[in-house]
Amino acid sequence: MSIVTQSKFSQSSSVQINESVPRQRLLCHCLSVSHEEVQQCISDTSAESVHEVMRGCGAGKGCTACHCRIKDLLAGLCDDCGESKRRCLCAVAVG
Ligand code: FES
Repeated sequence: MSIVTQSKFSQSSSVQINESVPRQRLLCHCLSVSHEEVQQCISDTSAESVHEVMRGCGAGKGCTACHCRIKDLLAGLCDDCGESKRRCLCAVAVG
């Protein structure tokens, strides 16, 4: 068994981070579209599908990995738990 004493990443050159740019939660990494931009697109265009969001703000036009997150935003949030209505189990009947 070997013990790692120095990370290979510590030898890489330093990364410059521009602190003046506010960090946004990216929803679509391929097209660099934030959660807020997608939410605004849904509000502005009354988008009801992933394709309508794609036309509205460009999110989702790459690898498609973000389509599930776009669907979560389209479904809205549960009033009880705050989770996407697609994933919320509050309405599931017990028994
Ligand atoms: S992460 Fe949105 S298309 Fe790839």
